[in-house]
Amino acid sequence: MAMLEVKDLNKGFGSKSFNTRIEVLKGVNLKIKKGELVALMGPSGCGKSTLLNIIGGLLPADSGKIELSNSTEEAFEYGTENPNEVVDVRRNGVGWIFQDFHLVEHLTALDNVAMALEISGIEQSLAEDKAKAALTTVGLGDRIEFGAEQLSGGQRQRVAVARAIAGSRPLLLADEPTGNLDAESGNDIMKLFKLLRKGSNPISVLMVTHDPNLASQADRMLLMKDGVVAASNIKAAWGIDDKEDKE
Ligand SMILES: Nc1ncnc2c1ncn2[C@@H]1O[C@H](COP(=O)(O)OP(=O)(O)OP(=O)(O)O)[C@@H](O)[C@H]1O
Ligand SMILES: [Mg+2]
Repeated sequence: MAMLEVKDLNKGFGSKSFNTRIEVLKGVNLKIKKGELVALMGPSGCGKSTLLNIIGGLLPADSGKIELSNSTEEAFEYGTENPNEVVDVRRNGVGWIFQDFHLVEHLTALDNVAMALEISGIEQSLAEDKAKAALTTVGLGDRIEFGAEQLSGGQRQRVAVARAIAGSRPLLLADEPTGNLDAESGNDIMKLFKLLRKGSNPISVLMVTHDPNLASQADRMLLMKDGVVAASNIKAAWGIDDKEDKE
């Protein structure tokens, strides 16, 4: 069974009777395996964030189904429920990373990560231990007591990655995680994502990016167009001659 399976997802906004209706997702299907790093590309406004929000349990689809299984016995089935009915998905199913980091400025790196765990019901000292471990994983073991405002953009995003992985959730959703970073820090985040695939409990990553160089480093690239998602060869999509890759 795939770690994540999205089946025939449809989503529109607006009202038919007021002629403001737009259909954004028109039967999206995709599967992601455990530990896979998948890049999602597509033109602005095509529905990438909408898809992530539905997978992340923040927005209900009009129809369709999502199956998400984590490493333990737990599996989630959802899709059209209201966000208040999929609390478990947000708590135990997916971790989020956003373009603008979403850290609490006046808290330390440690507290930013630990707080998220405590909110999900983990006791304080265990939360701090897990937070320290996650910050060490992302290479910030020597910055745990730094305030968020004392960190560089790249370091802040690594705190956000630590926060997303600390709860041992199987899927990480990243909406343009490198959009506010310079090329080098963006590459560091990609390296980190690749690291998450390894280890005893591999984490899958679904990442939206507009950067073909970063997308080409993923295991697989998907292209969203006209309301559906299709496998895409990054080089072909960008008109780059890929003869070298052909036998
Ligand atoms: N809450 C909403 N109400 C009405 N329309 C919405 C809403 N959210 C998104 N849309 C519309 O749905 C379409 C897809 O938006 P979405 O944010 O998913 O695009 P995107 O692919 O993430 O674009 P970008 O690359 O610019 O971030 C857009 O036309 C947008 O205006
Ligand atoms: Mg978007």
